[in-house]
Order: sequence, then structure tokens, then C-alpha cells
Amino acid sequence: MSSIVSGEAGMRRTGGSASAAPIPLGRKPAGGAFQEASGGVSASKKTACIRTFGCQMNVHDSDRMRRMIRDAGYAEVHRYEEADLVVLNTCYVRENAVDRVKGHLGELNRLKREGRVKKVALAGCIGAAGEATELERRYGIDLVLGTHNTYELAEFVGLPGMEETFTPELPGTEGEHAAFVTIMTGCNYVCSYCIVPAVRGRMVCRPMENVVEEVERLVSSGTRYVTLLGQTVDAWREDGRRFCDLLERVAEAAPRVWFTTSHPSNMEDRTLRLIGEKATIVRRLHLPVQSGSDRMLKAMHRGYKSDRYRRKIEVFREAVPDGTLSTDIIVGHPGETEEDHEETLRLVADCAFDAAYVFKFSPRRGTEAASLPGAVPEKVAQRRFMEVLRAVESNALHNNRRKIGSVQEIYVRHGHTGEGKAIGETWSGHAVHVPTGGAEPGRYVTARIEGAGPHVLYAGEPSGPPR
Ligand code: SAH
Ligand code: SF4
Ligand code: F3S
Repeated sequence: MSSIVSGEAGMRRTGGSASAAPIPLGRKPAGGAFQEASGGVSASKKTACIRTFGCQMNVHDSDRMRRMIRDAGYAEVHRYEEADLVVLNTCYVRENAVDRVKGHLGELNRLKREGRVKKVALAGCIGAAGEATELERRYGIDLVLGTHNTYELAEFVGLPGMEETFTPELPGTEGEHAAFVTIMTGCNYVCSYCIVPAVRGRMVCRPMENVVEEVERLVSSGTRYVTLLGQTVDAWREDGRRFCDLLERVAEAAPRVWFTTSHPSNMEDRTLRLIGEKATIVRRLHLPVQSGSDRMLKAMHRGYKSDRYRRKIEVFREAVPDGTLSTDIIVGHPGETEEDHEETLRLVADCAFDAAYVFKFSPRRGTEAASLPGAVPEKVAQRRFMEVLRAVESNALHNNRRKIGSVQEIYVRHGHTGEGKAIGETWSGHAVHVPTGGAEPGRYVTARIEGAGPHVLYAGEPSGPPR
């Protein structure tokens, strides 16, 4: 998780719901039509492949779709060639995300013509964008789902129509060691460059009781790590209750908790202190800054100045001395000068980020920034991108090296790196490669940190058995 990724969608988070415009539904057959289309294949042989692009919101929506598909009797496969139904859950945040999906749609169109894939569904944020209609026609897509009607996939695969109309209320996958829980969808900000509010709609907060109930259900089914999800989770509110109240409740109900993503304008000192106080909260803050220049922050409509961001970080560093800090940065927004860029580099040095997702500005049709003057030439944007990336990496390496020699309790997240090592996470939110001797994801091991790179720590043999 604490990695630095470039331009591509990477592990974007975000939130969403309620697209204002009705979402086109493609040629939606009556319930059960897909099974008929698969031509007498016995229920146990139906296969589906779900491919996810974009942020954790989409990863979570894919979990829900996976559950529907399983309930409808499909076996999940991972290669298009083996799938009767392919669902692409897509991202619209930058143009390169769309280009990738187009490549997949082209391949699927060919496989369909060869009779190897039978149905293709396009879901997620491209599905909620106007461009979906054109893609539907060009690639012969069978079903287009937006971000607010994921549940309609259930009907498409032959399950009874689902009552729910509010996507976050649809349960995700239970029984997994780690689970996402959506606490809010959509976004009420109007950042100049961002298409997310257009495809995910305005903010809708999920009631605290529903969130806590879901967390309790997940924990009793074996989940050991809960991540609260939303585009601006710290904007969550309900009848005078604020995000820190919700986080505190969840941190009491679950053994390990994290949240993403936050907006600096909503981030309260109380929340920052809570991260340091509650033993069950992973001590890692992801707080996207976007730019270090006040002029750019204003043009972006971010609603804060760089000094206010710096002050938040000071509170975090003081309240959570061993915590990790990551951010998002956009280089090459229209009008960005060399001075603005220098300001960003200064902020990167001051905040000593442990990781950053750095993006080159990508104009999105329908956003304010797409029609602003002062486009930054590609070569300049690329140089600035590399400079920011290098500055972040050198900070991260410096911070990580300080961990060498410490003994850490490591949560095992994923099986193996291929070299007999698992990928884990410390309570400070550092990614660690650790030889676990076969410890399952969801267990803890304790080991000494022996090496460090800019993105990951390397641990020695764990002492004692996993717990
Ligand atoms: N809600 C979060 C993140 C939204 S999308 C926030 O407010 O920060 C994830 C990241 O993608 C953003 O933080 C931003 O850095 C980047 N991004 C969004 N639109 C972009 C665009 N048009 N070009 C380049 N990067 C963009
Ligand atoms: Fe996009 Fe801004 Fe909303 Fe984040 S806060 S999703 S960057 S509009
Ligand atoms: Fe996420 Fe991409 Fe949609 S970042 S909210 S999947 S546009």
C-alpha cells in the first residue's frame, strides 16, 4: 500500500453514488435471459470473469458483483477465454484509464465474435459517463451499468430483482480476512480537474448504525481488517455526529481499521489525535494535497492553502510520531508555472511524505480545467512529474531506513511475493516483505526489519508462531 505509483490508475480510492442523469442500461434482457443465452450449459458450468480498474471504490463494487455472480451459480474464472460473462468495472478519472479499458473491450469484442465469450458488461465510472453509449455501440456491449445501479447485474444474471437502490447497502464479501465498508458515496467538492463528482454524484452519507452493524457482521464472520471507504470519508456526518465519532465506534468494533480517502478541508485535529490514541487504527494517513502552490490550490478549488495543510501534518506527526503519511499530487494543471512547481517540491520536502501518488494532469471533458488556458507542454509536465517522484522517493527511502533494526508486529495481507515471502503491513502502515513460513493472510507475525527500499521494508524470519 505504501507504494509510489505513476500516472496510471493504481490504487485510487474515491467514492460515489447517485449519478444525476439516468444511467443507460444497454440491452437489458428480462430476468434470467443470460442463462438462456448460454444455451443449455448446466448451472454449474457457467463462468464469469470480473476485471477491476481504478480505485478501492471499484474494488469494493466488484466484491458485490462477485457475490451476485456466485449466488447466480457462476464459477469465477480469471481469463477472458474461459468466461461466458465478462464484467469490466471501469475508471474514468484520467484518459489513460479509458485507453486501457478500450484495449480490453477490443479484445473482448474479438472473443465474442469467435464465440468464446458470450456476454460483456461494462460497469463502473465509464458506465456512468456519456461516452458509454458510444462504446456500447462500437464494441457490442450487452449491458452498461453506472455507479448507482450495480445491483441490476443481479437481474441480468437471473437472480430475482433486488430491492436495494442504494449501492453501499449491498453487502460485500463476508468471511474474507480484510473487507471494505463504504461509509459515504459521491463528492460535494468541485475540484477543477476532477470527473468523479460527475460519475459518482453528490455526497450521500451512510447511517452510523448501518455501518457499525456491517462491521460487526464482518468481524463475527472472521474479518480482521476493515477499511472505511469514501471519496472524502472525513466529510462524513450525521445529525451532529462527525467522522471522528464514526471512526471511534468502528475502532472499538473491529480489531484493525483504516480509512481512505480524506480531504484536508475536512480533516479535524481530533481525528488525527484519535489515530494515535486508538490501538486498532492503522497509523497511516492518506491526505491528498494536489499542489504546494496556493495559486494552484485556488485554481483547483481545493479550499485550503498550503500552510493549512502543513499545520495538519504537524498535528499528525506530533500525535502519531511513528505514523506514515501519503498524498496525491497533480503536476501540469493548466497555468502551473515553474514557481508553482517549486512550491510543490518545497511542500514535499517539508512534509517528508512516506509515499505519494503523482499524476500528470489529464484533461477530462466536462470539467473546468479541461477548458482553462495555460496548458503545460507534455515535456515540461513529464520533467516535473519525475522531479516530484524522485523527491518523494528519496524522503520515503530516508524514512524507511530509520525502521531498520526495529521489531514490528506485521499483519499478513497477501500470500506470497514469489520468493517465499508474504506481503504484510506494520501498525504504522508500512508495507513489508516477510518470510512467514506459510502464515495465512489475516494473521500476525513479529519480525525484525532488516532492510528498506523506498516502497517497502524487508523483515527477517519471524520470532514465534503466527497469531
Ligand atoms: N477524493 C480524493 C481523490 C480523488 S481521485 C481527493 O479529493 O483527493 C484520485 C486522485 O486522482 C486525485 O487525488 C488526483 O490527484 C488525481 N486526479 C483526479 N483527476 C485528475 C485529472 N484530471 N488528471 C490527473 N490526476 C487526476
Ligand atoms: Fe475529485 Fe476533488 Fe471530489 Fe476528490 S474532492 S473526488 S479530487 S472533486
Ligand atoms: Fe474511482 Fe476512477 Fe471512479 S478513481 S471513483 S474508479 S473514476
